[in-house]
Amino acid sequence: MDHFTLVANMEKEEFRILNAIEIGMRKFKTVPFTNIAFYARYDPEEVQHWLDKVHKRDIIIRESGKRQRYVLNSKGYDLLALRALAERDVVASIGNMMGVGKESDVYQALATNEARLALKFHRIGRTSFRAIKQKRDYARGKHHVSWLYMCRLSATREAENLATLNDIGAPVPVLVDQNRHVVVMELFQGQELHDFTRVDDPADIFDKIVAAVSLAFRKAGLIHCDLCEFNIVLTVDGDVLIIDWPQAVSIDHPNAHGFLQRDLENVCVYFEKKHGLVRDPAELMQEILPRESTTTD
Ligand SMILES: Nc1ncnc2c1ncn2[C@@H]1O[C@H](COP(=O)(O)OP(=O)(O)OP(=O)(O)O)[C@@H](O)[C@H]1O
Ligand SMILES: [Mg+2]
Repeated sequence: MDHFTLVANMEKEEFRILNAIEIGMRKFKTVPFTNIAFYARYDPEEVQHWLDKVHKRDIIIRESGKRQRYVLNSKGYDLLALRALAERDVVASIGNMMGVGKESDVYQALATNEARLALKFHRIGRTSFRAIKQKRDYARGKHHVSWLYMCRLSATREAENLATLNDIGAPVPVLVDQNRHVVVMELFQGQELHDFTRVDDPADIFDKIVAAVSLAFRKAGLIHCDLCEFNIVLTVDGDVLIIDWPQAVSIDHPNAHGFLQRDLENVCVYFEKKHGLVRDPAELMQEILPRESTTTD
C-alpha cells in the first residue's frame, strides 16, 4: 500500500496517536505512554488500543525492553505530513518516486486541481543502512529528536528560500506548500545538466546560470552554496532552473563571498571540462558583487 492510500485508510484516532507522539518528541527522546495519553486526551485503554493498531502498521517504534515508550519512524512522520497536505486540499494523490537523493526522496503527485506536483521529503542524516540504524538509535533513544527537527528545519529553509526566489522571478521551482519535512512544488519537465553529454549552445546555458546566480544574489540576497551540475536543470523549453535550496545562505553571512566564489568555480570547472567553455570565476564575481565589495576596485 502506498503512503497515500494508507493515509486514506487510516482512522482519525490513529492520526491523533501519531500527533501525540510527535508532540511528545519535542520534549522526550522516547515518549512515555502516559504522555501520549495526555496529549491525545484518551484514557489508558483507548491509547493502548490505538497504539497497538498503529504499531502493527510499522509506523511507530516501541522501545525495546521498556514496553511503554514510543517514537515515530520516518514513515509515521511522512503520513502526518501527507495527511495535513490532503486536508488542506493541496495533494490529491501521490505517484511514482522520481529520485532518491542522499538527503531527500522526491515523488510525483497530483494536486486537487489535477496540476502535477513534486513532493520533496527531506531526509537529513540518513545512511545506507538507515532502516537498521534508525531503529537501533531510536531504541537507544538517541538522535531521534534531532532527526525529526533537522528534516523539518531543512524543508522550512528550502520553502522560505523558494518563496523569496519565486517573488523576484528567479528561475527556480515554484513553491506550492510545505508541511513538516515535505516541500510541495510544481513539477518541472527537464533533466539535470549532469545528464547531458553535449548541449547545443553551452555559452547560452552558462550565461543563463550566471544570470540566475546574480539575480538570486542581488535581488533575493541568497547564495545557493551547493551549485553543481546535479542542481541545475535544463527544461524541455530550453530554460535553466536552479534547484535544491535548503542550504542556501544569506549574503550577510561572514563567508558569503567565499560561498559565491565556490559556486561559480564549480560551474566554470564543469563547463570547461565537459563543454570546453572557458570562463573566469573571478571576472564573474566582479560582475555580480556590488562595486564597493570587489577587492580590485
Ligand atoms: N519540482 C520538481 N519537479 C520535477 N522534478 C523535481 C523537482 N524537484 C526535484 N526534482 C527531482 O528530484 C531530484 C532531486 O531534487 P533535489 O536536488 O532538490 O534534492 P536532493 O536532496 O539534492 O537530491 P539529490 O541528492 O538526488 O540531489 C532532482 O534532480 C529532480 O530530478
Ligand atoms: Mg540535488
